[in-house]
Amino acid sequence: MAQITACIFDLDGVIVDTAVYHYRAWKRLANELGFDFTEEDNEKLKGISRVKSLELILGWGGIEKTETEREELASRKNNWYVEMIQSMRPDEILPGAKEFLQEVKAAGLKTALGSASKNSGLILERTGLLPLFDVLVDGNHVSASKPDPQVFLRGAEGLGILPEHCVVFEDAVAGVEAAIAAGMKVVGIGSAEVLNRADLVVKGLFEIHVPQLNNL
Ligand code: G6P
Ligand code: MG
Repeated sequence: MAQITACIFDLDGVIVDTAVYHYRAWKRLANELGFDFTEEDNEKLKGISRVKSLELILGWGGIEKTETEREELASRKNNWYVEMIQSMRPDEILPGAKEFLQEVKAAGLKTALGSASKNSGLILERTGLLPLFDVLVDGNHVSASKPDPQVFLRGAEGLGILPEHCVVFEDAVAGVEAAIAAGMKVVGIGSAEVLNRADLVVKGLFEIHVPQLNNL
C-alpha cells in the first residue's frame, strides 16, 4: 500500500462553513428573479462551480437567460457573497480543521487546497489559514470542475507528489468522485450514506488524526 505523504483539502464545508453565505446570496438572487430557493436546493450546489450552480437554479425557476445575462447574474450573486466573506473571522473555521492542518504539517506531510471556489484566497486570508498550505489550486486554475479530477491532480502536481500518495478531504459527492477519478484516497466529511464512495467518512476534521491516514 502506498504511503500517504500529502493531504488535499476542499475548502467550503471542510475547512470553513461558507455554505450559509452561498445560500443567502443565491436565495436573494432567486427571490429577485421571482422564485424561492430553499436550503435543500442549496445542498445540491455543494462542490458545484458558480456558473453551473446558476444554470441549475435558473432551471429550477424555469427561467431562460442569455449568456450575457447569466454572466451579470453570476457576478451580482458573487458581489453579495464577497461582501459577506470579507468580514469572516478565524472563529468561523470548522471544529478541528486548523488543529488537523497543524498536525499534518508537524508530521512532515504536504498540504494543498483543491477547491472549486474562485474566492478561496480571500477566505484563507481572512481566517488566517494561508500559511498552512503549501499549494493552492482553486476555481481560478482549472478548466473542468468536480467531478473532473483536474483540481486534485493539479494540487498533487504542484506538490510534486504522485496521486496514490495523496488523500483528499471532501464534503461533496462531486468532490469524492473527483478524488476517486484522480486515483487518490478520500475521506468524506459529512454523512456516510451520502458520501458512500469515500474510504472513510467522519463528521469533521476533529475526528481524524494522521496515524489513521495509512489505513484507508
Ligand atoms: C464550492 C462550494 C460551491 C460553490 C463553488 C464556487 O465548491 O461548495 O457551493 O458554488 O465553491 O464558489 P465561488 O466562490 O467561486 O462562487
Ligand atoms: Mg465542499
